[in-house]
Amino acid sequence: MTQPYVIDEMISAKAIAARIEALAQEIEATFAGTDKLVVVGLLRGSFVFIADLVRELGLPVEVDFLEASSYGSGMESSREVRILKDLRGGIEGRDVLVVEDIVDTGYTLSHVLKLLTARKPAHLRTIALLDKPSRREVPIRADWIGFEIPDEFVVGYGIDFAQANRNLPYIGKVRFTDAGA
Ligand code: IMP
Ligand code: MG
Repeated sequence: MTQPYVIDEMISAKAIAARIEALAQEIEATFAGTDKLVVVGLLRGSFVFIADLVRELGLPVEVDFLEASSYGSGMESSREVRILKDLRGGIEGRDVLVVEDIVDTGYTLSHVLKLLTARKPAHLRTIALLDKPSRREVPIRADWIGFEIPDEFVVGYGIDFAQANRNLPYIGKVRFTDAGA
C-alpha cells in the first residue's frame, strides 16, 4: 500500500500538445527524406507520448516497442536495467527514433542506446518528454526534450506511480498528504 497522496498539475494537456507539435517539426526536418522512420517506444511510460507524437509526424513511420525496467514498483531506480521485451524488427541500416517518457538517472536510456547502437542503425536519435537533469548519474542527454522539470516524482500522460495514474491527460506531481500521521 502507498501512503495517501494528491496530484498537483504541473504541465497541462494543452501545453504538452503544443510542445509536441513543435518537436514534431524539428524531427521532420532532421529525418526529411527518410524512406521510413522506426519510432521505438520504451514501454510502458511512453505509450501516450508516442501515440500523440507519431500523429504529428508528417513522415512515413513504423512503430516498435522495447521494454526496459529499472524502477521495479517503487520510486527509486534500481540502476540495473533489464530488457523485458525486445524489438520485433531489425534496425540495421534504418533511421531510428527512441521515445522515452522521462530521463532521470540516465541508466535506462544509456543502456538502451548501447544495445541499439550495436545493431548498426543508419541514424539513431532520442526524444524524451521529460528530463530531470538534477538527478543524472550517467552523462547522457536526449536529442529532443519536451520539458525540463525539477526533482519531483511525476505521473500522468502515460507515466505511473505503482501502475496508477497513467490515464491522466496532464503531467502532475505526487504530493504525499499527512492524513493519519
Ligand atoms: P532512469 O533510468 O533513472 O533514467 O529512469 C528512467 C525511467 O524511470 C523512466 O522511463 C520512468 O519510467 C521512470 N521514472 C523516472 N522518474 C519518474 C517519475 O517521476 N515518475 C514515474 N516514473 C519515473
Ligand atoms: Mg520508463
